Amino acid sequence: MDKIKAVILAGGKGTRMKSELPKVLHKVYDRCIIDYVCDACEDAGINDICIIVGHKAEQVEEHLKIKNRNVTLCLQKEQLGTGHAVMQAKDHIDDDDLVLVINGDQPLISSQTIKSLISFCKQGNYGGTVLSCILDEPGSLGRVIRDENGNLLRIVEKKDCNESEEKVKEVNIGVYCFKGDLLKQSFNKLDDNNAQNEYYITDIPSHIKKAGYNFGVYAIADISEFQGINSREELSIATCTLLNKTRKFHMDNGVTLIDPKNTYISLDAKIGKDTIIYPGTNIQGETIIGEDCIIGPNSHISSSTIGNNVVIETSKVTNSTIGNNCIIGPFAHIRPNSNINDNCKIGSFAETKNINLGNDSKIPHLIYAGDADIGQNVEIGCGCITANLNPKWEKNRTIIGDNSFIGSNSTLIAPVEIGKDCAIAAGSVITDNIPDSSFAIARQKQTTKDEYIKKHNEFLNKSHKKN
Ligand code: UD1
Ligand code: MG
Repeated sequence: MDKIKAVILAGGKGTRMKSELPKVLHKVYDRCIIDYVCDACEDAGINDICIIVGHKAEQVEEHLKIKNRNVTLCLQKEQLGTGHAVMQAKDHIDDDDLVLVINGDQPLISSQTIKSLISFCKQGNYGGTVLSCILDEPGSLGRVIRDENGNLLRIVEKKDCNESEEKVKEVNIGVYCFKGDLLKQSFNKLDDNNAQNEYYITDIPSHIKKAGYNFGVYAIADISEFQGINSREELSIATCTLLNKTRKFHMDNGVTLIDPKNTYISLDAKIGKDTIIYPGTNIQGETIIGEDCIIGPNSHISSSTIGNNVVIETSKVTNSTIGNNCIIGPFAHIRPNSNINDNCKIGSFAETKNINLGNDSKIPHLIYAGDADIGQNVEIGCGCITANLNPKWEKNRTIIGDNSFIGSNSTLIAPVEIGKDCAIAAGSVITDNIPDSSFAIARQKQTTKDEYIKKHNEFLNKSHKKN
C-alpha cells in the first residue's frame, strides 16, 4: 500500500491579515489555525506530516513544539508562492508516496473529507486530485476549469483569468492529493510567469496531465468546510461557522443554550445532558462539564473538569477540577490547579489557586485561598487570606484540617498547619501551627474607655467657647 504523507503549506506572509503574528497562529476561537489543519490530517490517519514554514518560522516552530506536534519542518527561505512552498518538501517525498498537500489556512476541512479525497485519488488511479466547491461568489479564488466532458483542464488564479474563466463558480479549495513521483517531476516545470510572479501549486495539475495522467476533481457539497483565511473578516466567518457547528452539536446532545449566538464552545469541550448554559459564556480547551449543571451568564471556563449538578455563575475557572453539587460564584475566580471536591461553595469575590478543597467545605465571601490543602467540612469566614508568599518570594502552603472554622478577616501566614476540629477567632493573624480541637485567637486585646467620647466632646465645646 502507498504511504500517505501530508505537506501543510504554512510559510506565507499572510499580508492580508495585517498582523505581526504569522497567519497560521491566528486563532479560530480558542485554537490556532495550524492546529485544526494538523488535527484534521492526523484524524484522517496521516502520521507523517511535513509543515512548510517560512515567514516568522521561529514563531510557528515554537508553537508546534509547545503543542508537542510530531511533525517535520521544512524551511521556505523566500516566499515565492505555493508551488515554491511545496517544492521545499522534495527530499521528504518518496516516489511511491501519496502526498496530501493542504493550505495551512484551511482550518475547517474535516478529516472525513481528507480521507474521501485520498480514496477518490486511489480509486480513480489519478496522477493527482484537487478538492473543489461551487460558490455563488467565487471572489479571489482559483477557478477550476473543466473541458466539455467535465474533466479538469487547468486551475486558473483569479488574477490570471480571462473574462469567461472569471465567471466560473467552481473554485479550488487548496487541498490536493498527488502521486509522489509525479509531484516531484512537476517541480522543475513550474515557473513564475503569471500575474503575481509566483510559483503556483495550481499549475501542477496541468503538468501532470501533460505527462499523460488523469487529474481528478473531487467536488464537495458542504461549503461550510471551506473557509480559507486570508483576512480578519474571513477569520471571523470561519469562527462563526465553527461555533455554529459546536452549538448545534451540543444542543442535539441535550444541552440547553439559552442564547446560542452568545455562547462560545470549543470543539474539544464535552458537556453532559440537561446542562443549561446562559449567555455570555465561554467554554474553552478540553473542558468537560457534567450533567444538570447551570453555567453562566458570563462565565469563562477553560481546560477544566466540572462534575454534575454544579452552578457556575458569572465566574472564571481555569485548569481546575470541580466536583459534584458545587456552587461557584457569582464573581468567583478559580485559578489553575484548584481541586474542588463535592458539595463545596465558593462564593462572591473568592479567589482560589493551587488548592485542594475537601468535600462539603465553604469559602463563601471575599477570600483568597492559594497554595492550601483544606480538609472536609471546613468553613472559612468572610475576608480571610492565606498569605502564601514569604520575603524570599517563595510560595508556602497552608493546611487546614477537617471540620475547622476560620473566623472572618483572619490571615493565615504560611507555612502554617491548622489541625482538625479547630476554630480561629475573627480578625486573627495566625503564624503558628494549631493542634487538633484547639481554639486560637491572635489579635490585640480590646481597650474600652467608658464615656470617652462624651468627655472628649465636652472638652471640645469648652475650648471652642474660649476662642
Ligand atoms: C490559494 C490558491 C487558490 C485557492 C486558494 C484557496 C495558489 C496559487 N492559489 O490562494 O487557487 O483558491 O488558495 O484558499 O495556490 N504559502 C507558503 N509559501 C508561500 C505562499 C503561500 O507556504 O510562498 C502558504 C500560506 O501560508 C497559506 C497557503 O500557502 O497557508 C496558501 O497561500 P495563500 O497566499 O493564502 O493562497 P491564496 O491566495 O489563498
Ligand atoms: Mg489563502
